[in-house]
Amino acid sequence: MGKRWISKNLKKMEPDPFGELREKIRHMSNVINLSSGDPDFPTPSHIVEAAYRALQDGYTHYTLTSGLPELKEEIAQYQRKFHMNLDPEGEILVTPGSQQALFLTLTSILNNADEVLIPDPSYTVYSPIIKYLGAKPIIFPLNRENNFHIDLPTLEKKISPKTKALIICSPNNPTGTVFSDADLETVAAIAIENELLVISDEIYSEFVWKGKHKSIATYPGMKNRTVVIVSFSKTFSMTGWRLGYLIANQELTQMMGGLQANMVICPAGFVQRAGLAALQGSWEPVTLMAQEYEKRVDYVVQRLNALKGISCRKPEGAFYVWVDVSALCPSSIDFCNDLLEKKALITMAGKYFGQQGEGFVRLALVKPMDVLTEALDRMDSYINGLDI
Ligand SMILES: Cc1ncc(COP(=O)(O)O)c(C=O)c1O
Repeated sequence: MGKRWISKNLKKMEPDPFGELREKIRHMSNVINLSSGDPDFPTPSHIVEAAYRALQDGYTHYTLTSGLPELKEEIAQYQRKFHMNLDPEGEILVTPGSQQALFLTLTSILNNADEVLIPDPSYTVYSPIIKYLGAKPIIFPLNRENNFHIDLPTLEKKISPKTKALIICSPNNPTGTVFSDADLETVAAIAIENELLVISDEIYSEFVWKGKHKSIATYPGMKNRTVVIVSFSKTFSMTGWRLGYLIANQELTQMMGGLQANMVICPAGFVQRAGLAALQGSWEPVTLMAQEYEKRVDYVVQRLNALKGISCRKPEGAFYVWVDVSALCPSSIDFCNDLLEKKALITMAGKYFGQQGEGFVRLALVKPMDVLTEALDRMDSYINGLDI
């Protein structure tokens, strides 16, 4: 009966793969969950204390839709680290999480039948939002042979007169690839030549294991045609606080601010004050988390590569390990389901991130070392039990 009221566009949205998984494991015990990218570290205490203080100090009302001026000022200061020179009042919109920033951006630019280029594999949320808006996600495969970097001829072939925007994510979820200068120059050239907007998801910019994070917005001619998506969720282990922001040219920022006013009015004031404390306070907890993630990455990659029939590279950034299991099972979904059923170990099937992800599984390293050790013991015992 409920279906009667559901819009055509909402019906176009694929079901959230995490939803199905959550349902499946609700009654299972002794499960190790490496499926979702929610860090195990507590939010650093000075950030929590700033939120308490803000509640006591009366940050319990609406703020400006675009965010507290002192927070936008501090964000502009922080972004200098990546050579971004921002007008805090005109070019930053604070949002309740970066997912809201993605949603606002796509909602603000897309008309029916517009096309948006999205990498394959990529974060699971881009395609459903685009479909929901009646627009068309156009998949451009990343180069599997070249560690999922961008292949210019493949990308060029996908451009049409209807292409409006292109999404990139670096460091990439799920592959851990950090786009090189060559990748970013390719994207910039294509965007300029074809008048495209680039949506650059940079939420893992503090977790780079090889090289340095660079934003495409800093390439010549790109600042005004890029929307940069940033989050407090992973950097400060603040997923549940719902705080992120976008950086865009003044016109877009203003339009998206108008839309946000009609959706949520503003992000919570005390949460924004906590975000301010995160940026202004000690960065030692972030450094320690990054060091711990890299330790986990090194350990897990080494253990996985010692197992028969599977292989993985060290990711260049982010805290995911992208494992090739194609020699063991052609279907990543079947592999993950079987591993869950037999060893209570939850991983994410690569296919959920796109066709190019088939044959891979993603492990999110959001558990302490002893749990990861147990997870790898289970993987070892699972593979030993396979008839190969
Ligand atoms: C690539 C990417 N972008 C955006 C998000 C959304 O993050 P949040 O809304 O918590 O800022 C995630 C979450 O996992 C992600 O992996």
